[in-house]
Amino acid sequence: MNLLEEDQSTDLEQIVGLSRRGFISAGALCGAAMFLGGGLLSRSALASSISAGTSQLLGFDSIAAATADSISLPPGYRSAVLISWGQPLQANGPAFDSSGNGSADAQEVQFGDNNDGMSLFAFPDDPNRALMAINNEYTNYRYLYPHGGQPTSAQEVRKAQASEGVSVIEIQRKGDAWQFVQGSPFNRRIHGNTPIRLGGPAAGHALLKTRADNTGTRALGTFQNCANGKTPWGTYLTCEENFTDCFGSSDPAQAFDPAQKRYGVVAASKEIDWHLHDPRFDIAVNPNELNRHGWVVEIDPFDPQSVPVKRTALGRFKHENAALAETLDGRAVVYMGDDERGEFIYKFISRDKIDHKNPKANHDLLDQGTLYVARFDAGDKNPDRPRGQGQWIELSHGKNGLDSSSGFANQAEVLIHARLAASAVGATRMDRPEWIVVSPKDGQVYCTLTNNVKRGEDGQPAGGPNPREKNVYGQILRWKERNNDHAAAAFDWDLFVVAGNPVVHAKTPKGGSANITPHNMFNSPDGMGFDDAGRLWILTDGDASNAGDFAGMGNNQMLCADPASGEIRRFMVGPVGCEVTGISFSPDYKTLFVGIQHPGENGGSTFPEHLPNGKPRSSVMAISREDGGIVGA
Ligand code: FEO
Ligand code: CA
Ligand code: CA
Repeated sequence: MNLLEEDQSTDLEQIVGLSRRGFISAGALCGAAMFLGGGLLSRSALASSISAGTSQLLGFDSIAAATADSISLPPGYRSAVLISWGQPLQANGPAFDSSGNGSADAQEVQFGDNNDGMSLFAFPDDPNRALMAINNEYTNYRYLYPHGGQPTSAQEVRKAQASEGVSVIEIQRKGDAWQFVQGSPFNRRIHGNTPIRLGGPAAGHALLKTRADNTGTRALGTFQNCANGKTPWGTYLTCEENFTDCFGSSDPAQAFDPAQKRYGVVAASKEIDWHLHDPRFDIAVNPNELNRHGWVVEIDPFDPQSVPVKRTALGRFKHENAALAETLDGRAVVYMGDDERGEFIYKFISRDKIDHKNPKANHDLLDQGTLYVARFDAGDKNPDRPRGQGQWIELSHGKNGLDSSSGFANQAEVLIHARLAASAVGATRMDRPEWIVVSPKDGQVYCTLTNNVKRGEDGQPAGGPNPREKNVYGQILRWKERNNDHAAAAFDWDLFVVAGNPVVHAKTPKGGSANITPHNMFNSPDGMGFDDAGRLWILTDGDASNAGDFAGMGNNQMLCADPASGEIRRFMVGPVGCEVTGISFSPDYKTLFVGIQHPGENGGSTFPEHLPNGKPRSSVMAISREDGGIVGA
């Protein structure tokens, strides 16, 4: 699917060549005046200013789209591999076996597959040392096994489970380069069979009890770990996303209850097939095991012996990431998206205040608090970048109709079935909420709504922050909490950018908002990260066919935006078939770490080693400037 035909590359060259000469499509230039930031710019003036590159915040020129099996960067930048799938974490650990014959035991002590969200934790007493906690979201059987197909044994399933979860690694700066430290006592794997505690209001509930754990508090494993969060008290949050895909049923006539259906479990397990060789994942045998996944898990990276904890107070859904903020009175806030078509955006507020003086005192802060879900109004229907207002609706048992009459006997059931509770209170169905980030400059919250080809069907009318039917490009939503307080019950929203293709589609809405041009167009924004200067980095997981609606966009990529002016420039293009996901920075912001996930997902890549007949390997890349400056400045 990601292999490119030559005539498509030719199209790309033509488009990129035209854009270099300053070509702006008629559609990008026509249209009404629009607001951006505090100023009023005509659409044509904005397009010209973006073409010329007026942002003082962005210190590089937008690079061309590309279809190569390599990393493209602006002049003066370089990239190096920090770590790749299969790298042994311990001294004398088993080496990566590119044949696929490596064992499950070996994978349990190697860097996991398909790295995704990650956070960096600096050592307080040494600026040249840090830990990184890095998610390993899933695996690709094409490369995991020598036969390249579905798992055929319990051992092969265990290898797949070992490839997912989290890798904690130490890194050190040697000269001007950060390097992985093999053999560090902090290096650790947390995977699909690691003991994990369940904490918070749902822990111990009957729906979490299984034959193997009659307490409902001792789970095994975390998997499908998408993106992440970092708490102010120095712990890592890993988010369990497509967990239902790992479950199936040995009973072909399996009847699913409404909650199981809503979470999307199917008897055939979306071709992951763990249930065929591991009864823990067989709904016919262990129905409650499903309820023990779909949570946010907290990990202390500095204590390799610590038991990770699933924080049930944050609700159970297909978690993308967890963005931390703080209320004006000092409580912790966690913003979260549920990445499925038509699912919701949530906010958790802790009951107690953060103890900044004693980080360890916050160890169970995320076990007590209140969960909310977002409802958006229809907005002003501005065709370029609409704006409007919204509310947070509390998901607490006994409030807003959440009680036994609506199917929720207690708060544990509200949390375990958070999707059902959010529907019951009338939350707004969104275009697949992916990452959420909070600006370090003004506290505004940004959320990628990656795409939704079903918008306009199934009770999901277009409107408000989801303005387009059959939305293949995605948009980035932004909101400001009332009184600049993350505890607020209401907020004001706008769309920061509506992605589109102004070359293929001369007119909005498919041409995108005015800050999309032939120079920077992309589709399916997914990951995001702010640096301390307030640059917004945008990572894509979209259609890399470079054809049709996506002609001229090339491979998946990373862009950088100036939140004040709305200008967006393309900074990096990834290799063939990859998704760009996971972002973190060194403490001095002179190195940007970015994840290249599933290069060659469907073949056609040998990234990053480019060995003859070699396999592609997901990798964390370290991006830096040849002159040692701050990345992006
Ligand atoms: Fe794992 Fe929604 O991305
Ligand atoms: Ca994602
Ligand atoms: Ca995605």
